[in-house]
Amino acid sequence: MSVMYLLFSMLVCVSNAQNMERYIAAVYEHAVIHPDHTMTPVTKKEALDLMNRNMDVLEKAIKAAAEQGAHLIVTPEDGIYGWKFTRETISPYLEDIPNPEVNWIPCDDPERFGKAPVQQRLSCMAKHNSIYIVANIGDRKMCNISEVGCPADGQYNYNTAVVYDSDGKLIARYHKQHLFLGEIQFNAPNEAEVVTFETPFGRFGIFICFDILFYNPAVALVVDHNVDTIIFPTAWMNVLPHLSAIEFHSAWAMGMGVNLLSANTHNTTQRMTGSGIFSPEKIGPYYYNMDTEDGYLLISELYAHPRNSSTYNPIKWNQYASRIGKHPTGTDVFIGKVFFDEYTFTVLNEPQGNYSICQNDLCCHLSYKKEEEKEKSNEVYVLGAFDGLHVVEGEYHLQVCTLLKCGSTDLKSCGESVDLASTKFQSFSLSGNFSTDFVFPEVLLSKVHLAPNMFQVLVDGRLISQPNISSQPLLSITLFGRLYEKDPAGRQ
Ligand SMILES: *[C@@H]1O[C@H](CO)[C@@H](O)[C@H](O)[C@H]1NC(C)=O
Ligand SMILES: *[C@@H]1O[C@H](CO)[C@@H](O)[C@H](O)[C@H]1NC(C)=O
Ligand SMILES: *[C@@H]1O[C@H](CO)[C@@H](O)[C@H](O)[C@H]1NC(C)=O
Ligand SMILES: *[C@@H]1O[C@H](CO)[C@@H](O)[C@H](O)[C@H]1NC(C)=O
Ligand SMILES: *[C@@H]1O[C@H](CO)[C@@H](O)[C@H](O)[C@H]1NC(C)=O
Repeated sequence: MSVMYLLFSMLVCVSNAQNMERYIAAVYEHAVIHPDHTMTPVTKKEALDLMNRNMDVLEKAIKAAAEQGAHLIVTPEDGIYGWKFTRETISPYLEDIPNPEVNWIPCDDPERFGKAPVQQRLSCMAKHNSIYIVANIGDRKMCNISEVGCPADGQYNYNTAVVYDSDGKLIARYHKQHLFLGEIQFNAPNEAEVVTFETPFGRFGIFICFDILFYNPAVALVVDHNVDTIIFPTAWMNVLPHLSAIEFHSAWAMGMGVNLLSANTHNTTQRMTGSGIFSPEKIGPYYYNMDTEDGYLLISELYAHPRNSSTYNPIKWNQYASRIGKHPTGTDVFIGKVFFDEYTFTVLNEPQGNYSICQNDLCCHLSYKKEEEKEKSNEVYVLGAFDGLHVVEGEYHLQVCTLLKCGSTDLKSCGESVDLASTKFQSFSLSGNFSTDFVFPEVLLSKVHLAPNMFQVLVDGRLISQPNISSQPLLSITLFGRLYEKDPAGRQ
C-alpha cells in the first residue's frame, strides 16, 4: 500500500514536472574582474585564481536566485575571465569540455576527463543550489596541424556556453559561431551548431552575443527547432539608435515570439550594460546602468511555452503597409547616416501628420501626434527608411523603418547616438512593406528606457502606441527588419 502510494505520488510529481506552465528565470549582469594586461601567458594557477574570483561573485548571485525560487540562471559571455586575450594568453584559462552525450556530473566525478576545476565548480554550484546554470567558458580541442583547418598552434579554442542541470549534469555545450571583431583568441566552428535541450519548463536553445544578428543558428532554433526560450550570454557594446542591448534583445524576443534570457557583462567604459528577461508579451524586468560599476540580478516568472499562450499571434509584417496608399513624403527629404548606413529621411515638421518615405523596395508609413509643447524645445524628429547591406563590423542586409530624434537642429546629426529627449508623443503608428517575416519592433524612451505597456504590435504589422506613451519623452521607434537571404553568406 505504502509502496503503491509512493509510486503514485512520484508519477504525479513527474507528470507535474513535465507540464510546468510557468517557471522562474534569473539573469545576472556581471561586472567582470579582468586579469592584468599581459602579452605572456600567466600560469594555470594564476588563471584559476582569477576565474575563482569571478565565480565567487557569480556564486552569490546563483545562491540568491535559487533562494528566490529561480529554476535557471544565465550568466554573461566572458563572465569568468573577460575578453582581452591573444591565442597565447587565453590558453591557461581553457579546459577541454566534453560532448554532453558522455553523461557527466563534474561535481561527482571531477577528474573523469582530466583536471577541469572550472567545470567542477560550476557543476557543484548547480547541484548544491538545485538550479540550472548557464555559464560561458573556453573550450580547447587539440588538433593535428597537418589536418586542414587546424590552427598553427595545434588547437581550436572555442567561446563556449555550457549548461548544467539542477543535478549538476552537463546537458548542453554550444560553440559561438559569429565571433565579433577582436575575438582573435577564438575559432568559429566550421558549421553553426544547433544546440537545444528539454526541461520540465520547455525546450531551450542557446546562442551567444553577435550570433543574434544572423540566421544560423539563432533564427533556425526558433523556426526549425521550435524552442520556447533562448539562452543568451552576451558582452554587448551598446550602439544607439537601434542596437542598444535591452532595445534590440527585447525586440528580438517579441519579433520571434520566444522568451530571451539575456545576461550582459557590465563595463561602462566599454558601453556594456543592459540585461533582461524578455518574452513576446512582456518586456522586462531589465537592467541598464551607465552610472555605477555594479552587477545586478534579475528574476522573473515566464510562460514555459510562450508561443502557445493565448496572446501570441504570428505577425504579418507587411499586411497593413501593402494595403494602404502612400502618404505625402514631406518637404525636407535628405540622406543621413545611422551606424554607417545611408538612410532616406524626411523631417517631421508638423505637430501631427501622416508621412511616407521609401528606399529601394521598402516604403515606411507613419501617423503621429506630438504632445503640445509648453516651451519650444527645438528637437528635430525624422522618419527614415533603409533597405540595404550593412557592411561595418559585420555584413548583414537590413530593412528598417524608424522615427528618431536627431542630435541637434543640424540635420547632419540625424542618426547619431542620442540618449536624451524631452518631446512626448500622444500617438504613433509605424508600418512598412517589408520583404521579410523577420522584423524586430523597438520603442526607446529618453535615458535609454524601454516602454513596457506603452506600445503594441498588431497582427497586420503596425507598431502602435498605447495611451500612456504620452507620459515619457521618446528617443526612437523602429521596425528593424532582417533580410537574411540577401546576406553575402546567405542563410549559412
Ligand atoms: C599528424 O598527422 C600526420 C599525417 O597524417 C601523422 O603522420 C602524424 O603522426 C600526426 N601527428 C600526431 C601527433 O597525431
Ligand atoms: C572594462 O573593460 C576593460 C577591457 O576592455 C578593462 O580593461 C577594464 O578594467 C574594465 N573596467 C572595469 C571597471 O572593470
Ligand atoms: C504548442 O502546443 C502544441 C499542441 O499542444 C504542441 O504540439 C507544440 O509543440 C507546442 N508548441 C510550442 C512552441 O510549445
Ligand atoms: C492622418 O491620417 C488619419 C487616418 O488615416 C486621419 O484621420 C488624419 O486626419 C490624418 N492627419 C493629418 C494631419 O493629415
Ligand atoms: C513597397 O511599396 C512601394 C510603393 O508602393 C512599391 O514600389 C514597392 O514595390 C513595395 N515593395 C514591396 C516589396 O512590395
